[in-house]
Amino acid sequence: QLRAGRSTTVGLAVLDAGNPFFTDVARGAEDAAAERGLAVLLGNSDERKQREDAYLALFEEQRVSGVLLSPTSETLASAERLRERGIPVVLVDRTAPGSDFSAVAVDDVRGGDIAARHLLDQGRSRIAFVGGRPDVLRQVDDRLAGARGAVDDARGATLEHVETDQLTVLAGRDAGAAIVARKPADRPDAIFAANDLLAVGIMQALVMMGSLRIPDDIALIGYDDIAFAQSTVVPLTSIRQPAQLIGSRALDLLAALIEDPNRVPETIEFEPELIVRASTGE
Ligand code: RIB
Repeated sequence: QLRAGRSTTVGLAVLDAGNPFFTDVARGAEDAAAERGLAVLLGNSDERKQREDAYLALFEEQRVSGVLLSPTSETLASAERLRERGIPVVLVDRTAPGSDFSAVAVDDVRGGDIAARHLLDQGRSRIAFVGGRPDVLRQVDDRLAGARGAVDDARGATLEHVETDQLTVLAGRDAGAAIVARKPADRPDAIFAANDLLAVGIMQALVMMGSLRIPDDIALIGYDDIAFAQSTVVPLTSIRQPAQLIGSRALDLLAALIEDPNRVPETIEFEPELIVRASTGE
């Protein structure tokens, strides 16, 4: 049952409503909400803090019973403020160890490790991790950390971080163009993109602008395994996240918190899965 004065809606603030990963998260949350007679208000922070804050304020105005949040920054100040005002919050798509927030995500360190080891197993040794900036999105930091660990274990392999402002197709296309512009000897022989949207943009740049062959010249792996990953011009190898399950389990945790605000915080971490396709060679 709901708390006095609370509506039968919950808020869901995602980082990028244009990313099919979050569409699938929202679908999972909505299906679980419908089973409980709850509706979901979707907000797109567009990876911008001020938009995230605006949506959280709107959710509060609408007297939502709880909020699912994929945070735009490492700090969780906005989530703390909501909770201080009596609105339960569950983090989606990243964990917050040490905080007392419940959270649902995949183990992104493991995901980064699996991705890098797959490239190393293909005999690649000059890996570029493309996407994000340090200390912004925890899930991206964790993927990079996992990849660094795998590369450190492999003798003679190197890893560089090609940073981008966003995790979009356009940002991927720009990063890919910069790699194409390098002297051949300075190019990586494998790219690990922080998500599939970046990988799509990178693939376009390598193939259209650089006439480079994937994977022969540069192997490419993404992250999320969105539906488009299998239909890119060179089908994309990716690390699958169970997006709909993440959404529905996050809603389940939120419903439990609405029921009992003093419930012990719980973190659910799913295992990432390597989906091999032509872009890394097999
Ligand atoms: O938008 C940020 C990225 O982190 C998404 O593509 C998805 O991978 C999420 O985990």
